Amino acid sequence: MTELSRRAALASGMSFALAACSRQPAAAEPVDGAPLKSLAPFPVGVAVQAAQLGDPAWTSLAATHFTQLTAEWEMKMEYVVQADGSFRFDRADAIAAFARDRGMRLFGHTLVWYANEPEAFVRLDESRQSFAGALANYVTAMVGRYRGLASGWDVINEPIRDDGSGPRDSLWSRKLGQVGHFKVAFEAARAADPQAVLFTNDYHLESKPAKLASYMRLIEQLLAEGVPLNGIGCQTHLDADLPAGAITRTLKALAGFGLPIHLSELDVSVVGGGLLGDRAGAERRQVALYGEAMDAFAALPQRQQFAFTVWGLRDGDSWLTRENARDAPLMFDSAGRPKPTYGAVVKALRGR
Ligand code: XIL
Repeated sequence: MTELSRRAALASGMSFALAACSRQPAAAEPVDGAPLKSLAPFPVGVAVQAAQLGDPAWTSLAATHFTQLTAEWEMKMEYVVQADGSFRFDRADAIAAFARDRGMRLFGHTLVWYANEPEAFVRLDESRQSFAGALANYVTAMVGRYRGLASGWDVINEPIRDDGSGPRDSLWSRKLGQVGHFKVAFEAARAADPQAVLFTNDYHLESKPAKLASYMRLIEQLLAEGVPLNGIGCQTHLDADLPAGAITRTLKALAGFGLPIHLSELDVSVVGGGLLGDRAGAERRQVALYGEAMDAFAALPQRQQFAFTVWGLRDGDSWLTRENARDAPLMFDSAGRPKPTYGAVVKALRGR
């Protein structure tokens, strides 16, 4: 056997051995599953749907780790406002009762959203009741119903256009004006619950500087006009390819108003953005982003730490997984086991 062929034989033997090793999944490091709420010195929240309250695996895991609930969709007009203009509160009441019975806070999401334009408002006979009066009536009914349990409300959700060019047009802004619809909704919410923290809330602030700038300009304008806005929401729906540091810069910028910050809807998609096709790389970045989100939130002044909320409990509960079953955007897998994303959040908290 020539030297070359001996080396080739060795190399092929080596490569076979390495291939065999690489085929074994790397032994996953054990994840520190300590209860999140015992580690976080501020409220930690999770999105919920009423149907999940009937799943003991869901309720047990949520009550173990979280201190606040946000209704994923059943406190929105799309569920509450009926075609005849009546309101249905059955599922919102079930979520509120679950929170109350477990000593958890409820977070009200959301009163006014461009994506919800119920027929009852579109077809309002304004000769009988003004549009502003109808909106104030709805806000008063919702906020008043959960007064004392809801720690705060997303009063106006997603006010900025996706391209960041300025405030969105919506049924609400067309009828009452940009600042006008904020005034009507926020003033009615303030009157209905003087204690609740009143938020506006938006997304892609980390990845779109123009959108962040427009959001901050709008907040400045609203505060200058005396709108009783006293909380700022940053949804933090991310793709795994978001560059390191973007979350930190965004939260620092928003914190400059000196108001409570709600990191309100965290999830990190591993099938969106530029890392499609590199699943392992996407998952590594996802873990880092969860850690950065908690680091950045925990670094806020204590008086500005309203809540750190994730948009779903287990991967199978996520709106993103309903869209693409290959996604895995949350901190717990579909069996309720803590993932490395959870470990990164715990590590960030223990490191403080
Ligand atoms: C989503 C819910 O997760 C879905 O179940 C529902 O069908 C549509 O709304 N930003 C928001 C949330 O403020 O209300 C959205 O929630 C996700 C984006």
